Amino acid sequence: MKVLVVGSGGREHALCWSLASSPLCDKLYCAPGNAGIADVAECVAIKAEDVDAIVAFAKDKSIDLVVIGPEAPLVLGLADKLADANIRAFGPSAAAAELEGSKGFMKDICAKYGIPTAAYARFTNAESAKAYIREQGAPIVVKTDGLAAGKGVTVAQTLDEALNAVDDAMLNGVFGDAGAEVVVEEFMAGEELSFFAFSDGKSVLPLASAQDHKAVYDGDKGPNTGGMGAYSPAPVCTPEIEQQVIDRCIQPLIDGMAKEGKPYRGVLFCGLMIDETGPRVVEYNVRFGDPECQVLMMRLKSDLLPVLVAACDDVLDTVDLRWHDQAALTVVMAAKGYPGSYEKNTVIENVEAAGADDDVTIFHAGTARADDGSLRATGGRVLNVTARGDTVTAAQARAYEAVDKISWEQGFCRRDIGWRAVEREQQK
Ligand code: AMP
Ligand code: GLY
Repeated sequence: MKVLVVGSGGREHALCWSLASSPLCDKLYCAPGNAGIADVAECVAIKAEDVDAIVAFAKDKSIDLVVIGPEAPLVLGLADKLADANIRAFGPSAAAAELEGSKGFMKDICAKYGIPTAAYARFTNAESAKAYIREQGAPIVVKTDGLAAGKGVTVAQTLDEALNAVDDAMLNGVFGDAGAEVVVEEFMAGEELSFFAFSDGKSVLPLASAQDHKAVYDGDKGPNTGGMGAYSPAPVCTPEIEQQVIDRCIQPLIDGMAKEGKPYRGVLFCGLMIDETGPRVVEYNVRFGDPECQVLMMRLKSDLLPVLVAACDDVLDTVDLRWHDQAALTVVMAAKGYPGSYEKNTVIENVEAAGADDDVTIFHAGTARADDGSLRATGGRVLNVTARGDTVTAAQARAYEAVDKISWEQGFCRRDIGWRAVEREQQK
């Protein structure tokens, strides 16, 4: 089969790495890819959001399967346009991608189909939103309806914070159109969990659990990022919780979306809050998490390619997934200054040697090769140093051993990725 992966981050490197190892994969392309992806796929210079150019390329090369990594092209309708061109696309339609593209849509679907989530109200008027916030009191959560590059959510501990968030979104235009509507919701306490499942619109094939670290500094402090590291499995996800997540938060969503005439095909990323009442949905994303995908791919034993094809062809119930028993953990190396401004084009050395161990794989998230052959950092999140181990503690030790072999003066990473799981393992 000829396969095209769309995207350029660590997630797409992990997907390419997994797909390239499939005996069914004859040719692998990635648009636009990065320096690490170039080792396993042919990179083509088309941006992920350039939907028409991707469709034209897929037609020209007679691609058998397009795997869409990020949410932006999904929300723009890439899967629909590929379907119109009779090209198999892994990823939901634009209508189904509204689950991530509109918080209000997602909350309404949960309410309609009885899926547990925080109580909420939607507002297109700032004064009404503020009146509601005053009535409810803090802590409270304010979310822009639309996509705001992960920055549209304010978990407000005080009333002032919440009222300011409404002003920023609705009056000051800080998030552009994304903030024209806001969702105000109940604050949920508990431990967060990410759970992933494939769907063909009808059946559900659970993957595995993972947990990421969004805050930029050790101890989960500092501003939020796309994710500074992740590990799988997440110990908070006991077999009982997993079954509750599938029965209460995933299957009813898939059934509901089908009833709405918006069948969900692709991978569903369910963000959850776990407390003594069980799981409640924080959010749905219509794609793999990044860097959660990297640890899932490290643990996956099965051939990924036929599973993705089965999801596209509505025969997901004919396949299964096998996993390594081992845990996996990834440490994100980022450019100093991220998630604020940072220097670009800095030189990184010794990446290959650092990844020489069989149980270590270094996925590239933001790299390019300079003319002189040197490896350069081109983004905020740059490398994902990923390792397997019998425990999260062992995987963590192996990952940091590899991190310490990499020479990159302008880079940094958190030193405590996986701390919750490591603490739990020490208590045993
Ligand atoms: P979201 O983009 O909806 O996932 O929100 C980003 C982050 O904000 C989540 O990962 C949670 O840590 C936090 N968050 C969102 N909604 C809530 C809520 N209702 N209660 C507590 N924390 C929340
Ligand atoms: N790591 C969280 C996300 O991909 O949204």
